[in-house]
Amino acid sequence: MRNTKINIERRKNKKTKPAPENLGFGTVYSDHMFIMDYSTEKGWHSPKITPYGPISLDPGTSVFQYAQSVFDGFKAYRTEDNRILIFRPEENLKRLNASCDRLCIPSIDEEFVLKAVKQLVDIDQDWIPTLKGTSLYIRPYIIATDVSLSVTPSKTYKFIMILSPVGAYYSEGFNPVGINVEETYARAVKGGTGAAKTAGNYSPGYKAQEKASEKGNAQVLWLDAIEKKYIEEVGSMNVFFKINNEVITPPLNGTILSGITRMSVIELLKYWNVPVYERDITIEEVHQAYVNGGLEEVFGAGTAAVIAPIGQLNWGDQEMVINNKQTGGLSQKLFDTLIGIQTGKLEDPFNWTVE
Ligand code: COI
Repeated sequence: MRNTKINIERRKNKKTKPAPENLGFGTVYSDHMFIMDYSTEKGWHSPKITPYGPISLDPGTSVFQYAQSVFDGFKAYRTEDNRILIFRPEENLKRLNASCDRLCIPSIDEEFVLKAVKQLVDIDQDWIPTLKGTSLYIRPYIIATDVSLSVTPSKTYKFIMILSPVGAYYSEGFNPVGINVEETYARAVKGGTGAAKTAGNYSPGYKAQEKASEKGNAQVLWLDAIEKKYIEEVGSMNVFFKINNEVITPPLNGTILSGITRMSVIELLKYWNVPVYERDITIEEVHQAYVNGGLEEVFGAGTAAVIAPIGQLNWGDQEMVINNKQTGGLSQKLFDTLIGIQTGKLEDPFNWTVE
């Protein structure tokens, strides 16, 4: 479908934009959206950009029953010299296809969808906020649309892409947050869907999140489902530990999402000659490092928050205060560099951004 023309219907009256200082995460959407359909006969077809608005679905639509749905997320930024940069969209679209494969959803043409991303962002470019810490979040997702209660892959789908001007992911902004180490609930198990970005991966985490919030923590640190020993992710992000001048992040062993920010952090650390290891790490090892004074920094890495410094880990009755609850030097440098590259303020030696 590489050369298929995208039909464009523009909105007549533009919506009012929110004040950039008040942007949260994903609460307002731009003027337009992209939508295309899939059927076994036609494949992906009828791509269009239309005014943003409700879609109508039969209440028996299968996505509402069995959550056959995948999504991804990446961001567009406006540079000081008025260019528009999108951060590593090819990687996100590649991952979207990997998620599709896991949920038996037909793959998309990544090149065509990238073209659609560029057209949609171009049309709604006045929605890209420029205030420090803001960006335009791009959310593509696919839903199964067969009207059926049959527990089988749908034969029809909708691919939708919406845009949301966003500010900081956490209300704390770029400030260290408290994290609860979750020992009862699990996020993913080997052979499950943890490595894919599926809709169904997220709401099962709410219960643990509720527990964390009750204890005054912002997020959950997930351990492996079987032994509750190995560290996996933090909230909806990948996690990194700086211990005795080395950086460690859990390996992509089938339960962990292959984060684009995670990948970028690893590439940056290697570029800076900072020792970085993708290896198993237990909560016990982190605690030992804390006791020995070697736990220097902990941070999450994800598209939404970019880098989220962690100031405290609560593991049972153990309370580990990290770096005096201050943002560590490496977390700050990674944040500044990533944001610098994303917003075009810094040189992009890796060619990560797409104009
Ligand atoms: C990310 O930060 O990469 C995420 O996936 C967060 C999103 C689920 C809101």
